[in-house]
Amino acid sequence: MTLLLVSRCQSMVVAAFTPNEKHVMSATITRSNLDGTIAVLSLDMPDKGANILSSHVLNELEEHLDALENEDNLKGLIISSGKPGTFIAGADLREFVASLDADRADIVGLCRRGRLLFSRLHELPFVSVAVIDGICVGGGAELAIACDRRIVSQSSATQFGFPEVKLGLFPGWGGTVWTPRIVGLYNAVEMITGGESIDAGQAVQMGLATQSVPPEKLLDAAIRMIHQESESGSFLKDREQWSQPIEMSETELGFLGVTAAGFIEQKTKGHYPAPLAALEVLLGGAALDPQAAGELESEEMANLFGSPVNRALLNVFFLTDRNKKQIGAHQNPAAIEAVGVIGAGVMGQGIASANIRRKIPTLLSDTATEALRNGIQSVLEQASYNRSLKGPDVEQTIALAPFLSPALQTSEMEHCDLVIEAAVERAEVKKIIFSDLEKVVSPNAVLATNTSTIPIDELASSLSHPERFLGIHFFNPVRKMPLVEIIRGTKTSDEAVATAFDYAKKIKKSPILVRSGPGFLVNRLLLPYMSEAVELLLEGVEPRTVDRVATRFGMPMGPLQLYDVVGLDVAAYAGKTMVAAYPDRVLKSPLVEELVADGRLGQKTGQGFYHYQNKKRRAETDAALNPFIAKHKKEDRDLAAEEIQDRLLLPMLLEATRVLDEQIVENARDVDLGLILGIGFPPFRGGLLFWADTLGAGSLLKKLERYQGLGARYQPTPRLVHLAETGNKFYD
Ligand code: NAI
Repeated sequence: MTLLLVSRCQSMVVAAFTPNEKHVMSATITRSNLDGTIAVLSLDMPDKGANILSSHVLNELEEHLDALENEDNLKGLIISSGKPGTFIAGADLREFVASLDADRADIVGLCRRGRLLFSRLHELPFVSVAVIDGICVGGGAELAIACDRRIVSQSSATQFGFPEVKLGLFPGWGGTVWTPRIVGLYNAVEMITGGESIDAGQAVQMGLATQSVPPEKLLDAAIRMIHQESESGSFLKDREQWSQPIEMSETELGFLGVTAAGFIEQKTKGHYPAPLAALEVLLGGAALDPQAAGELESEEMANLFGSPVNRALLNVFFLTDRNKKQIGAHQNPAAIEAVGVIGAGVMGQGIASANIRRKIPTLLSDTATEALRNGIQSVLEQASYNRSLKGPDVEQTIALAPFLSPALQTSEMEHCDLVIEAAVERAEVKKIIFSDLEKVVSPNAVLATNTSTIPIDELASSLSHPERFLGIHFFNPVRKMPLVEIIRGTKTSDEAVATAFDYAKKIKKSPILVRSGPGFLVNRLLLPYMSEAVELLLEGVEPRTVDRVATRFGMPMGPLQLYDVVGLDVAAYAGKTMVAAYPDRVLKSPLVEELVADGRLGQKTGQGFYHYQNKKRRAETDAALNPFIAKHKKEDRDLAAEEIQDRLLLPMLLEATRVLDEQIVENARDVDLGLILGIGFPPFRGGLLFWADTLGAGSLLKKLERYQGLGARYQPTPRLVHLAETGNKFYD
């Protein structure tokens, strides 16, 4: 849905529209007539890659419907897109943001207006057919579902869905009214509360689309359908049926409500209110006629619109959108025909598999033959992993195998345009690798390291061409983590950065540009949070309590469990880098080092802060940890949840202000996107600095006062103090 805040006078261009003319041009919607009996409204938003339902476009639609309603010589209406490969990508979210503070009554009114506009399609004296080629989501899907019939193209780009819950909302222009009437309540609940799109085949199977045809046959199919429907009148019978409450017994409704609510609660952990609200509207609206169900939808929508979660999720949407635009802003990338990956361990495998999934020819090397053999097998398994099979898809393995080759010597990498090193974390090993590579690759090839801790300039120092060298830092597991830090050294060229961005885009990752510095961006912010968790243990807090506070805040897992997943040895090594760089404020963790020395490395050894020896390898409290803690315990305090949360998050936040001062990234938005995509910082908080803005710098300083006895790591930074003094925010 979109908010119709723009006055109707904006659509003056449509006012010149006269129904009897054959071609009437308007800003986005063009009306044409076929054989004098079929009207076609085609959307083609000027200067945009995709159609968006702005208030202006809806005003245009209104003008066209005004005219169409008075035409009695028509057999049907086709709604289509003038942009091949995309139908409508949703509503205009910038208009949403501009209306976030609108009054409740205004929100209800604006939803109602959009819904009643689309509902007019059901009142037309002839059949309406949406022909959908490509993306059809959000408000676009609501427009399509308000038509009598939908025909989808067999293109793999065709997607139909209601992703509104991902913005903390649900479809508010009648989507919750018509979808269950057309595809059944079960399907509608799944689509609307889950927010995932379906493809053309699923749309037909569900009865959402009448048929799927090749893109070039859409129009013919729609014309045929209009002639059939106007003869049979079957669309009128459907309209009659859809104008009634949905037939379903109380028992069945109750069963659906309980199971769906249970599933949603398990998925959202109570942090995302929209899916449950959507469920209530769908169930409540089922027993009502469409008009009353629509009113319920508008009223409930007003509860979500402008809520903190809605604002935070809109911010995340704009962060991702900005990131996509940034990728394109880096000019003149070198072509990437082949990529070399050095090191066939955990990361090398993940990187190589991301490449071959996108059909980029990849050479994988390792000094250990066994590691290379296992690596090749694992890359193919990862690349052809099929979620529904819960394992590799053999056909896919066969299709992707030609894109992967083992390389037994560095010289075999001579034709690679990009080589990514993911060997052991030792500077001297990496330096030898790059010096060997420089001798064989072409002068234009880009060389990259996946190091987590070694400064880019240190590795570049021994290179003859440091300008083509940079960091491409992936996160573990590569398959699941979308973030890639592109780390620029002092001498890295713009072309090398552009090539790295282009490569990240090719393998469907979200890259952010980071200047080299200890821990780069994400690990630098993560370490203070993780080491504070260990401090809390030494003050008497139970491991489970620390982790529970973090997950209640919305983190995907607690910091101590995260130690176990990452590996205590890996974390200890990264910790040392941070201690060396910032000895005044980063704490040494003798406890972690002793656990490492004892072989408690986390999940990989079955024991870390928890133990994992039950069948499902679920984290269990481990009494054997107690003597390690007792040895270093400072006190035994009973800390409230709020204090634990402050203790974990405030050092991370202060470090973020330093990162901004040092221009490690461009601005607050990069920090937030990096943390959301890199560590799963809760999207419903909008990002670390977005969340900090909701509290305000003044109240953050107040919180910090309480922790001044803990030393430099809780000392307010000049940037935070300045924000509090000026009343400014991290987001300008
Ligand atoms: P790993 O220990 O799983 O794999 C390293 C591989 O490099 C081994 O198979 C080893 O035989 C091979 N190797 C050693 N010397 C080599 C040489 N000279 N030439 C070719 N191969 C050589 O290590 P992992 O975890 O894959 O880490 C690799 C790099 O990625 C490290 O720099 C690490 O800091 C970084 N990284 C690791 C992350 C993680 O979570 N494991 C996350 C992000 C970066």
